[in-house]
Amino acid sequence: MHINPYLFILPRSPDQIVWNYKNHTQYQLDPEYARRLAQLIENPNYFDKNNTIDAQLATAEILTCSKIETPDWGWDELSKIFHIGTRDIPFESPPQSVEDWSRQYLQHCDEVLTTAAPESRRSTTTEHIRLPAAGVLKHDMLASALLRRKTCRSFTDSPLALGDVSTLLYLSLGYLHERDADRDDSIAPGLGARRSSPSGGGLNACEGFVLVQNVAGLAPGLYAYHPAEHSLSPVGPLPDVALGQMLCGQHFINNLPLGLFITARFDRLWWKYPHSRAYRMALVEAGHVSQTFQLVATALGLRTWLTGALADSQVEALLQLQDSAEEPLFFVGCGESDGQAMCREMHDLLREQRQS
Ligand SMILES: Cc1cc2nc3c(=O)[nH]c(=O)nc-3n(C[C@H](O)[C@H](O)[C@H](O)COP(=O)(O)O)c2cc1C
Repeated sequence: MHINPYLFILPRSPDQIVWNYKNHTQYQLDPEYARRLAQLIENPNYFDKNNTIDAQLATAEILTCSKIETPDWGWDELSKIFHIGTRDIPFESPPQSVEDWSRQYLQHCDEVLTTAAPESRRSTTTEHIRLPAAGVLKHDMLASALLRRKTCRSFTDSPLALGDVSTLLYLSLGYLHERDADRDDSIAPGLGARRSSPSGGGLNACEGFVLVQNVAGLAPGLYAYHPAEHSLSPVGPLPDVALGQMLCGQHFINNLPLGLFITARFDRLWWKYPHSRAYRMALVEAGHVSQTFQLVATALGLRTWLTGALADSQVEALLQLQDSAEEPLFFVGCGESDGQAMCREMHDLLREQRQS
């Protein structure tokens, strides 16, 4: 027998909480069970199938018959527990349609609103220094994109132009050849490539996989974006399931013409920064790339949508990233939209509720 490697144990006197952070299961062990588990951790060969406690620990998959292999992880256990423990969050009944999603989301909001939102921690009693009216930016386009960027959940079926996709990818993720000559002597060889977004340690640990559903001149499917060459290489066909299914039932984006899965190469990060604090930097960097993507898309006259609610294992399979140190973190997409923050089905539901 083997001890499941995805466990952590929390003291809750007099008991112990054993948490399987991969399967999202928890067990509370009383001292007798905890003592027996300690013996089995010391030597799993003490396992006795006729011992009731042992049998129950095996049923709970705290002990397993075959050895579970774990992927290499370059940071400490804490970030590993966080990363794996927040993946593939089980969903009781994932929405199967936009109507389903609208109902569930509204119900969730109603539940949340039964308690008041945390108050602002900004003091209202201390004197405030009034700032002058916000000025006009020299680059009007930037100001306009900042003011117009909006999360939309209703897209038309119009295709995107390949030229716009190219601009979008180059300005969000491409290595900017305009900055080739702008190299500081202190930058280590091999780390000179620069993007429009800042990058932790200059590592450009974030990468992108492009989901093409409706782009004129580009076959639908998944593509890897190559930032140095500014090119795409096919990774695979579109998934059999609707896009919304992979994004936790958010079916209102099923007709989104273009999406970008932002991934992070953890191995690149832990190569330079062995402390798991660098894990946070991966998330922050993905946020930068996402915002840049949204601003460029908005400047191109498109509307954007974003989510971190990925069905992680499904997305990894789609991107062919299983068992690798490259992890999908975020999704951002764009297309032509009627500019509505909410999908039509949600508006219909709200109207129905008001009328009843
Ligand atoms: C980290 C992050 C995660 C988000 N996840 C979702 C999501 O799963 N689904 C969604 O429809 N919107 C998502 N949003 C969009 C927010 O709901 C939206 O930004 C917010 O309501 C403010 O609206 P605005 O973007 O139009 O200013 C996310 C935004 C951020 C920054």
